[in-house]
Amino acid sequence: MKLFIDSANLEHIREMADLGILAGVTTNPSLMAKEGKDVTSVLREIASLVDGPISGEVISLKADEMVEEGRHIAALHPNMVVKIPMIPEGIKAVKQLTEEGIRTNVTLVFTLSQALLACNAGATYISPFVGRLDDIQFDGIGLIEEIRDMIDVFGFNAEIISASIRNTKHIQDSIRAGAHIATVPYEILKKAFNHPLTDSGLKAFLEDHQKAFGK
Ligand code: G3P
Repeated sequence: MKLFIDSANLEHIREMADLGILAGVTTNPSLMAKEGKDVTSVLREIASLVDGPISGEVISLKADEMVEEGRHIAALHPNMVVKIPMIPEGIKAVKQLTEEGIRTNVTLVFTLSQALLACNAGATYISPFVGRLDDIQFDGIGLIEEIRDMIDVFGFNAEIISASIRNTKHIQDSIRAGAHIATVPYEILKKAFNHPLTDSGLKAFLEDHQKAFGK
């Protein structure tokens, strides 16, 4: 499973990219608003930091306006992917952008039938929101499993981006459920590195070396 960072913070993206773990980046309007910078410049900067799919989200609600926005986003860099909300006008825009050879990421997916609609329109990526489903007592990871089965059985080309990741268990469960990608917030990516036995084990190795060789 590939790892993306779910962020529009350039320092956080740079730090994780430098560690060599990132295959792509997803943004959304809320993440962009948090940074308070010009969205186009932020997307360009992100594309210069990470060599992989970079999702930039449209904010229009009409298909033809989404397509216009999508063309603008796609023109920023060859790695750009147009993130489109899972609404009828969005699906219409996905179909059009797909025909133009522009990659799309259908976001705010909460059911298997929504995922099916996105697949049929030609979506490149589908983003089920695991954490937000868990928040309302639904099985977010179960939805990832169902979508993966559907993609495999019917031979769709779409890849699943497990989104709305709230903890490191969500990362692990996304692997087991067959997500192609997990897009993970900065703080959770940092936590994924840690284990107390790694720390105590390293400490013991270095102390043993010091005792034996004195350096
Ligand atoms: O970018 C989409 C998704 O990952 C949002 O996550 O935490 O706002 O539910 P969250």
